[in-house]
Amino acid sequence: MRAAHPRVVLGLHRSRHEPAVLREALDLGVGALDTSSNYLGFRSHETLARVAGDLLPRFRVSTKVGYFPVPGRASEHSLEPERLRAAVERAAQDLGREPDVVFLHNPEHSLSAGPEAARCERLAAACHVLEDAASSGVCGSWGISSWDPRPLGALVAGLPRPDVLMVRSGLLVKNEVLEAAELLAAKLRPSQLWGMSPFGGGAADAAWEGFDPRVFLREAEQATVMQAAFRAACRLPAVDAVAVGTDSPVHLRELVSSLALEVEEDVVGQYRRLLREAAGRSEARQ
Ligand SMILES: NC(=O)c1ccc[n+]([C@@H]2O[C@H](COP(=O)([O-])OP(=O)(O)OC[C@H]3O[C@@H](n4cnc5c(N)ncnc54)[C@H](OP(=O)(O)O)[C@@H]3O)[C@@H](O)[C@H]2O)c1
Repeated sequence: MRAAHPRVVLGLHRSRHEPAVLREALDLGVGALDTSSNYLGFRSHETLARVAGDLLPRFRVSTKVGYFPVPGRASEHSLEPERLRAAVERAAQDLGREPDVVFLHNPEHSLSAGPEAARCERLAAACHVLEDAASSGVCGSWGISSWDPRPLGALVAGLPRPDVLMVRSGLLVKNEVLEAAELLAAKLRPSQLWGMSPFGGGAADAAWEGFDPRVFLREAEQATVMQAAFRAACRLPAVDAVAVGTDSPVHLRELVSSLALEVEEDVVGQYRRLLREAAGRSEARQ
């Protein structure tokens, strides 16, 4: 059973890494930052240490490993244990402190080809690197962050239990991805389940022009559209925290104040049924 009022994690994927929004986060009681070794062109960690070194000790910091810079290309993904181990150590050095959580970043990216047994082994080896890093104190704990968990469900038997699993959440996530995330969480039994990207990365998405997410709230008239979409994301799937990106202190305040708004659980249930039925109809047509 997940908390009815989950926490906000300030995600830095699209962030300019400006100290003002980090200060506002602390003032609002948002004590968690989520970054990744590849954010800000692979400079997120060192930038945070440089521009917000005084603020970092006051946050719980999560980061991710799995993408590596390649000259002449944007990046490449790898689950190679030596590279992951070095990346976790580098993250702690560049941040100037041990991260509280290190996620294996989108492991599905490197698990699309090859026999299933070999893919299981590659995933297990990668998870063991992070588990060992957490046991030896290079990071506080470890997790898996997956944009598309559909390929992972079949590969996780015998994996160590992660502290945190992070999956997409919200009204823009399609049924198969939501169900795969819930199945993965049921199999892995992480101590915490986090959602991410509640607006699909862009608040100006046309979805909000054609649909008012305030139907998900008990007292809809008190909320903005973005608050309602955010609160719905906390229940789709039901998570302990949601990583959301913003460079705007005003937007962050709007999201934090949405946590007091009650979600209409019956509407969540109806919505899930509709999603399932629509997915069933589309399968039947294929
Ligand atoms: N595979 C992975 O591990 C993975 C993938 C994606 C994301 N994530 C995590 O999830 C975090 C969030 O994802 P995301 O940034 O892609 O997507 P997001 O949180 O869905 O969307 C961020 C966008 O929403 C806007 N926004 C936020 N609050 C708003 C408000 N109150 N009103 C209007 N606009 C608002 C922001 O614009 P403003 O700056 O103008 O507010 C920004 O453009 C990432 O930073 C990362 O931590 C992880």
